[in-house]
Amino acid sequence: MKAKARAYTNIALIKYWGKRDELLFLPTNNSLSITLDKFYTDTSVEFDASLKQDQFILDGQHVDSKELKKISAFLDKVRTSTGEVRFARVDSVNHVPIAAGFASSASGYAALAAAAMKATGSNISKRELSQMARQGSGSASRSIYGGFVEWQMGVQPDGSDCYAVPLLPQDAWDLRVLSIEVTHEVKKVLSREGMKRTVETSPFFTGWLEAVAADLIEAKQAISTRDFTLLGETLERNALRMHATTLGAEPPFMYWQSSTVKVMESVQALRQEGLEAYFTIDAGPNVKVVCQPHDEQGLLNELSKLDVVKHIYPCRIGPGITYLDL
Ligand code: DP6
Repeated sequence: MKAKARAYTNIALIKYWGKRDELLFLPTNNSLSITLDKFYTDTSVEFDASLKQDQFILDGQHVDSKELKKISAFLDKVRTSTGEVRFARVDSVNHVPIAAGFASSASGYAALAAAAMKATGSNISKRELSQMARQGSGSASRSIYGGFVEWQMGVQPDGSDCYAVPLLPQDAWDLRVLSIEVTHEVKKVLSREGMKRTVETSPFFTGWLEAVAADLIEAKQAISTRDFTLLGETLERNALRMHATTLGAEPPFMYWQSSTVKVMESVQALRQEGLEAYFTIDAGPNVKVVCQPHDEQGLLNELSKLDVVKHIYPCRIGPGITYLDL
């Protein structure tokens, strides 16, 4: 049986930063994201008894053996949970500007999990799908849903209570995200490695855990009352706190470049002038700016003037997993 699914990327407003179990992808804190409508991955999966090993074609090309190993390890999890024994042919197309550093393991593993589970013939709930996607990449657990999503860390050692839940549907609150590309360079410290090093060596990590719990409460309050100022202040602070932990790691590292800081400063200056926007940054130098619809054009005009800005991708809030015709 063959199946095809589409998953969109998401951007965390409250960050996932730290694992308590690396094998099962169990995080040290809850996180909260919005799914974006611009960037997505389409993946088809077919289990086939004639295959001698898994096959993975990404954007029309067979991937190298290292990448294939990762996908096979994930497919092993799908096989173990469903009783499927055949190898699979996986074909993935990323509608994400990879060169711009917006490549996303979140949309990739969410689409793969959805297509693979369907191709085995299993009919699982979104909650179970979120748990499966999580085991490819933590942030993928959130891309199962559209709109505002919370990934609950759970407390069970087997991860049975660790999954994402929807907070608000796609159309409930119209916020805009300007994805700002400042560089094409690939990141030096991958998020997986960066969060591991931080957990193991940064004295600031305990402070992060205390802070993130409080930030999550405020963000959820802001979402339930549609208080944009409260949400913005919370998300910007939370991003800064996440990045602060990396400076205390051994060896220390930093995802920002001078161009990143220029955009951050500009967003804060524009806010002083009345264009209300807040920034967030993931494990790389590019910046996402969150705003309300009435400020979007003004922000686009102003931020495009910065010499460090290569490209701006305006995004809206996007949908969850969809299954596509073959
Ligand atoms: C900074 O989900 O890419 O973007 O679970 O190791 O695959 P793995 O990590 P990943 O980490 C995302 C980190 C982040 C914050 C976030 O998306 O919450």
